[in-house]
Amino acid sequence: MYSAEIILEQRTRALSEINLNGFGQRHQGKVRDFYSLPGNRRLLVTTDRQSAFDRILGQIPFKGQVLNQLSQFWFEQSSDILPNHMLSVPDPNVMLAREAQMFPVEIVVRGYMTGVTDTSIWTMYQKGSRQMYGYNFKDGMYKNQPLATPIITPTTHAELGGHDKPLSRTEIIESGLVAEEIYTQIEEKALALFARGQELCGKGGLILVDTKYEFGLIDGQVAITDEVHTPDSSRFWIASTYESRLGQGQEPENFDKELLRLWMRSKGFGGDGAPPALDEDIIARLSQRYIGCYERITGREFESDLTQPVAERIKANLEGLAL
Ligand SMILES: Nc1ncnc2c1ncn2[C@@H]1O[C@H](COP(=O)(O)OP(=O)(O)OP(=O)(O)O)[C@@H](O)[C@H]1O
Ligand SMILES: [Mg+2]
Repeated sequence: MYSAEIILEQRTRALSEINLNGFGQRHQGKVRDFYSLPGNRRLLVTTDRQSAFDRILGQIPFKGQVLNQLSQFWFEQSSDILPNHMLSVPDPNVMLAREAQMFPVEIVVRGYMTGVTDTSIWTMYQKGSRQMYGYNFKDGMYKNQPLATPIITPTTHAELGGHDKPLSRTEIIESGLVAEEIYTQIEEKALALFARGQELCGKGGLILVDTKYEFGLIDGQVAITDEVHTPDSSRFWIASTYESRLGQGQEPENFDKELLRLWMRSKGFGGDGAPPALDEDIIARLSQRYIGCYERITGREFESDLTQPVAERIKANLEGLAL
């Protein structure tokens, strides 16, 4: 684990974006820059950009490496469950992947009655909904309790700036978004991935609370793409204090980027207007949080090159690569 001092020193070397020569047109998502390569491949560069409330707030040192290497870990740990898009990891922040035909839905899996966004089951339940995402919920449920069994709560995959909308299995199939036979496979794979995620997170003392998967077709087969069980796509709680805090009516101890949302709220930001500028303390704590997730989940010590800007390192690592 790096000290706050080392992390802050690395700010000038963090990756805000990448411009690669000879790779064609660059595309940008909120967090990743990517290039389409011949042979149905996609070069995904995970930057250090930090987003919250759908806005980019700045860079968090080591974040891109953590996300990319955590996804790599999970692709390796789930290859017996289903195929994935990973071909190679030519740099700690880069994944060479197979281009998938993406499904137009985001597959969210939830293990707990919780959440704060409009599409979360606790928000809707609290407002009186008992029928959500095609499931029936009984009265008397309480916040943060485990669900009897994890459930899939799919949403639309909104374009940049848009908001994801809740869907149900029936809506997805009847509207023709995904064929029933394929959707059934996606459901099976999503639940198996989530179970593997809960098992391995448990070994690191974390609870995998909920997560978002992006599936696509590769060679006609359902495959997992994008990122898996990272702090950007998932929520984690500390396992050892969960029961006692729940019993005392306290919120579970979060171990994901909830830290950032709470900090923004404490600065008076509720989602509208200009977000507060990240200060040194929150930058260091967030970076340590990301690194902590990597270390707990993989059981490995996080190591990075502290000597050169991430962009320079990436260019050097991609240089001699036969693409
Ligand atoms: N193997 C793949 N084939 C095709 N597209 C992929 C693959 N893996 C990831 N993607 C897409 O590449 C992009 C990665 O960028 P990033 O994660 O920054 O996007 P984002 O801002 O989260 O956008 P989105 O709202 O689309 O998730 C996403 O649009 C993701 O859906
Ligand atoms: Mg994404």
